[in-house]
Amino acid sequence: MIQRVDFDGPVILGAGLAGLTAALAAKTALVLSPTPLATGCSSAWAQGGLAAALAGDDTPSLHAADTIAAGAGLCDGDAVALLTREGPAAVRALAALGAPFDRKADGDFVLSLEAAHSKARVARVGGDGAGAAIMAAVIATVRATPTIEIRENARARRLLQDETGRVVGVLAQIDGELVEIRSPAVILATGGVGGLYAVTTTPTQVRGEGLGLAALAGAEIADPEFVQFHPTAIDLSAYGGRDPAPLATEALRGEGSILRNTDGRAFMTDYHPAKELAPRDVVARAIHAERAAGRGAFLDATTAVGAHFPHEFPAVFEACQSAGVDPRREMIPVTPAVHYHMGGVATDLDGRASLPGLYAAGECASTGVQGANRLASNSLLEAAVFGARAGRAAAAEKATGGEPVSLAPLPDLPDAAFQALRQAMSRDAGVIRDAAGLARLQAEIAALETAHGTCPPLVAARLIVDAALARQESRGGHYRADFPEKDVPARTFVTLDPVQACLRHAAE
Ligand code: SIN
Repeated sequence: MIQRVDFDGPVILGAGLAGLTAALAAKTALVLSPTPLATGCSSAWAQGGLAAALAGDDTPSLHAADTIAAGAGLCDGDAVALLTREGPAAVRALAALGAPFDRKADGDFVLSLEAAHSKARVARVGGDGAGAAIMAAVIATVRATPTIEIRENARARRLLQDETGRVVGVLAQIDGELVEIRSPAVILATGGVGGLYAVTTTPTQVRGEGLGLAALAGAEIADPEFVQFHPTAIDLSAYGGRDPAPLATEALRGEGSILRNTDGRAFMTDYHPAKELAPRDVVARAIHAERAAGRGAFLDATTAVGAHFPHEFPAVFEACQSAGVDPRREMIPVTPAVHYHMGGVATDLDGRASLPGLYAAGECASTGVQGANRLASNSLLEAAVFGARAGRAAAAEKATGGEPVSLAPLPDLPDAAFQALRQAMSRDAGVIRDAAGLARLQAEIAALETAHGTCPPLVAARLIVDAALARQESRGGHYRADFPEKDVPARTFVTLDPVQACLRHAAE
């Protein structure tokens, strides 16, 4: 017997910055988090901060121009204009909640430069601790709001839909028990897809759950092939390994750290005039190429940061030290790692997905802001700006819809299969892709689906791979060795094949 709960407000799946900002904006909300708050979400791990036009010599339109240039032809201009216009207020709102942004003596924000920004505009906390500090402030506010209910150890097992397709709630597993939660709106804020890959900077629990749930419900998905690889995850494979891989923030390159190979050669001069501050996808491919050629890749911060490392970049310092690397004196071994998903559940500017009653915000959404390649430190900003918009819009939903047509939980993926998927995704849908590898990966995912059922992580992986195979060009984070040039800029919009959806329902 499945317990039923009726909730008169949005149910929010995920408790990163987007989810909790949405909850605060909605005022009344039920937040389901698979892990204890502040753990298991990428927001809390963010080292960079929020990019916003906060400096006197900066403007939202300059920030928008940089965002659009990084997005390689696929940004939605309206979404970018909105993000960059609302950005400064979003940063100040987080500061008002208690996020202790680094300040100058006169109270202005300390602003850092990151790659592909024309201005120093990244508001940071404690050097590289923005995510944890911002989340601590937001979590404290949420916990002090009696109309926001939080359930930890709670994850979605399917979206509930009535016979019209309207989303009418969620089937959740809370402390091991299935609960049917009925609500006027569901907001997906489940984060990205990093956990689908063997080398990622995100928590491994973040594995395309929202994307898969939405796609299986028939929602439109946008740009799933666009996965961003951070160039400088710390490669601890020679030091016993670490999964996920710790990040060496881009701000280290903003401070003048140099990428070198084993011979000590500063190799970025071979790849791009902006060298270490070239767009993220260019730097990631350069590092991939150096490593693939056996020359290795290292971040040399010994001169640019040196003795200041422990207090300027404490999180990176701790990660290096824990493996026996002293970044004050030694180069940091680096590797590209999955860091962010530009694609996601297609939404309008208020987070509305294509199905009535369904919203998405943050990394699992695709507002069109991030294009083919996200500009550094635009992700927490997007989570704050669009999370609030989604929360307000979802709170205004009153219709409750009809009875759910199915209460059957979607299948789970056993860990061994999940690990096999991660290896295969890194091998064939990574920094460099081609038709042969993607086709092989499609077959492996199909075999996993046959063996284990159509579960959200496999659906998310399939969406990425199918779209990567279909996009016969290279653009932003998507690079095809067999189609290295750009073609006509066009976003991808897909819904799951209705035949497959029918088969799935028939099998239940
Ligand atoms: C970083 O600090 O390098 C990451 C910033 C981001 O991904 O936005």
